Amino acid sequence: MVYNKERTYQKKVYMEKLHITGGVSLNGRVKAAGAKNAITKLLVASLISDKKCVFYNVPNIKEVEITVSLCEEIGMEVSWDRDAGTMEVQTVELNSSYIPQRFSGANRIPILMIGALLGRTDADIIIPTVGGCPIGKRPVDFHLQALRDLGATIEYREMKKEGAYFAHAHHGLTGSVITLPFPSVGATENTILASIRAKGTTIIQNAAVEPEIMDLILFLQKLGAIITVDTNRVIVIQGTKTFYEVTHTVIPDRIEAASFGMAAIATKGRVFVENINHIDMVTFLNKLREVGGGFDVKNDGIEFFYNGALNSNIHIETDVHPGFMTDWQQPFVVLLSQAEGTAVIHETVYENRFGYTNMLKNMGADIELFKQCLGGKPCRYSQQNYYHSLVVKGPTPLIGKNITIPDLRAGFAYVLAALIAEGDSTIEGVPFLDRGYENIVEKLGGLGAEISRVDTDDKGLPQELVIEEEPATV
Ligand code: EPZ
Repeated sequence: MVYNKERTYQKKVYMEKLHITGGVSLNGRVKAAGAKNAITKLLVASLISDKKCVFYNVPNIKEVEITVSLCEEIGMEVSWDRDAGTMEVQTVELNSSYIPQRFSGANRIPILMIGALLGRTDADIIIPTVGGCPIGKRPVDFHLQALRDLGATIEYREMKKEGAYFAHAHHGLTGSVITLPFPSVGATENTILASIRAKGTTIIQNAAVEPEIMDLILFLQKLGAIITVDTNRVIVIQGTKTFYEVTHTVIPDRIEAASFGMAAIATKGRVFVENINHIDMVTFLNKLREVGGGFDVKNDGIEFFYNGALNSNIHIETDVHPGFMTDWQQPFVVLLSQAEGTAVIHETVYENRFGYTNMLKNMGADIELFKQCLGGKPCRYSQQNYYHSLVVKGPTPLIGKNITIPDLRAGFAYVLAALIAEGDSTIEGVPFLDRGYENIVEKLGGLGAEISRVDTDDKGLPQELVIEEEPATV
């Protein structure tokens, strides 16, 4: 099912667990890494041209490793200095446009390769089924419709084990007006990538405008594109065939930065997080202030600190940018479980992103799920049968447990819960965390957390815990 070159190695990695003893305040200084959801797209974007691109602030995370493997598969030359966080890439020639089935379900990135490659090759582009964290159905219908509107032919065909997308644009792509049904991050990126080499002008309406998309646009402008970001979610791209070498610094990871901020406050500590763009944190900081969390924005980062008891009489509705990110939601619920009062969360981006709350309840949190929309934002799940609202009451003490991580962001929520909890917790499913958090044990340990990675010998484990395949994510 998944990217799985060396099963033995992955089996060993999957056996790794985190051991956390809760109740220690986090204090000190930590640097947020480059954004996972930016660099992975920038690497794919570099496939549009044959020019050299140099990236700085590249996070040393598994998700980048997988994306590099995907790109190397079709001819990208990569030189990555993991310690320095720099990466030089160049795809002088495509040696293939076929992504093998072993990458099926590995992550969300292969579908974006269609957009990047359609204008570069006449050959069929063959991409296996994409994966993603189990947080909703996560279809790719908006991607496919937009690429077809630009002139691509795309078919889904059943293969031996699993299906694959076959795409080509034998007659080239032509700019068009694309109106996305929802401001999907991935569909916006795919449409932008495809329109760079299309004939004429493409106008994307109802586009996503997340900071990671702005970073992609800045990169593409350096690469040679002519792109305008207009008001009201409109992005205009003029096709080009002239490209240049690029150097680019990846924006900071606003999810990782917020995660450290919440960890500082929830553990009653004080942590300075270096390498944050204030502008990308505004919505998060507003909500933090509403519940009484302390922060001080400085030139080179943000200091987060416990500023007395938190109050949780707050209503949060997750949304596309500039709304409250769905990826901040899970650790924020953990924070709210430690605040006095009742908070209401309405998840409007994914239909199934509350699965992690069962374990939090097990640890002592008071959380109730609802199928109704508890909020007034337009929501695609209003008439459907999904638990996508919740009420959390606090403060409730949490107790350490044995926990299995179901997806990346739920994973950090569990780490945070374990840091607050009384006693010891053991966390399985560590590869989910390694997908998106750079050196998580070292970074949290550096702030004083009692956290270690336990390399369990699988012989000592009950058979049901021996999982041979790395979980698909993100
Ligand atoms: C990106 O996913 C991020 N992943 C996600 O981060 C993030 O949660 C999400 O954007 C929203 O901000 C990456 O960048 C790799 P979408 P993406 O297309 O692009 C529906 C993390 O933990 N939809 O904006 O896949 C979809 O089902 C991850 O870092 C369709 O219906 O998200 C979802 O409900 C998790 N059809 C909503 O739109 C489509 O064709 C938003 O998805 C596309 C999307």
